[in-house]
Amino acid sequence: MQEILTLNSISPKGVERLSSSLFHVADDVEAPAGILVRSQNMHEMELPESLLAIARAGAGTNNIPVEQCTARGVVVFNTPGANANAVKELTIAGLIMACRNLAPALDWVGGLKGEGDAVAKLVEKGKSRFVGPELAGKRLGVIGLGAIGVKVANVATHLGLEVYGYDPYISVEAAWNLSRNVIHCVNLNDLYSQCDLITVHVPVTKDTVGLINSEAIAQMKQGVRIVNFARGELVDNGALLAGVRTGRVGCYVCDFPTEELLGEPGVVALPHLGASTPESEENCAVMAADQLRDYLLNGNIHNS
Ligand code: MLT
Repeated sequence: MQEILTLNSISPKGVERLSSSLFHVADDVEAPAGILVRSQNMHEMELPESLLAIARAGAGTNNIPVEQCTARGVVVFNTPGANANAVKELTIAGLIMACRNLAPALDWVGGLKGEGDAVAKLVEKGKSRFVGPELAGKRLGVIGLGAIGVKVANVATHLGLEVYGYDPYISVEAAWNLSRNVIHCVNLNDLYSQCDLITVHVPVTKDTVGLINSEAIAQMKQGVRIVNFARGELVDNGALLAGVRTGRVGCYVCDFPTEELLGEPGVVALPHLGASTPESEENCAVMAADQLRDYLLNGNIHNS
């Protein structure tokens, strides 16, 4: 019987895929052949001698020491696309939040507790205080045209946004063909200078760390609204905060709170909720478990 170590609580549907007389799945096994992980940082962890494969229930693999695994012959799987719908939906919510001042408005309404009969009158003030633009008719820049970026672009088009796209890993021509002309594929400079809203959907690599830095922000339109449900490391927070404080960046909505971002007007930071839906947790867990099982039993590699 092979042992599988779970490092996070993994959807039971995923664990069930491995429940047989061939596997023992638990969070405290002695000699795991496989690890199922969601977001736990594995960089400081000593990889067990017995380990043959790690399956991440999620798209990003930046919590896994991939180079060390490769050197050791440990296969790393991820689940691209399995949570794309959940992240797409929250990105659309983020775009709306970035425009319609939802987070400060909710905070403000929360502060009315205790005002008694005056609440209705105060609410009148809120109506004019939190005015924000509509999405329709604006131009959205989508950086990264993978499973999530393309889904976001499609919904955005239906909301009346004109979508500009850029993907660091494919040429502008290839991206244009793939997007079936829904997305105007442009280079990054044009995307920065022409979009009212920008959303990022690329993994963290040595080429994308700090992608949104002071040079990038300097090229953007005054008041640009930036949404980031990909990874915090893609944005240089110092440059971002400088942009928010001068008004160059109208709003930053992200899924990656850090100490410096907290309480900053113009910044909305959610607790990494992009993939936190039961549907997506189940999809990712099932895909990750299937990959692990197929590799450990048959040596098959579907995606690594
Ligand atoms: C991802 O990389 O797909 C997400 O980080 C998944 C998650 O939130 O667990």
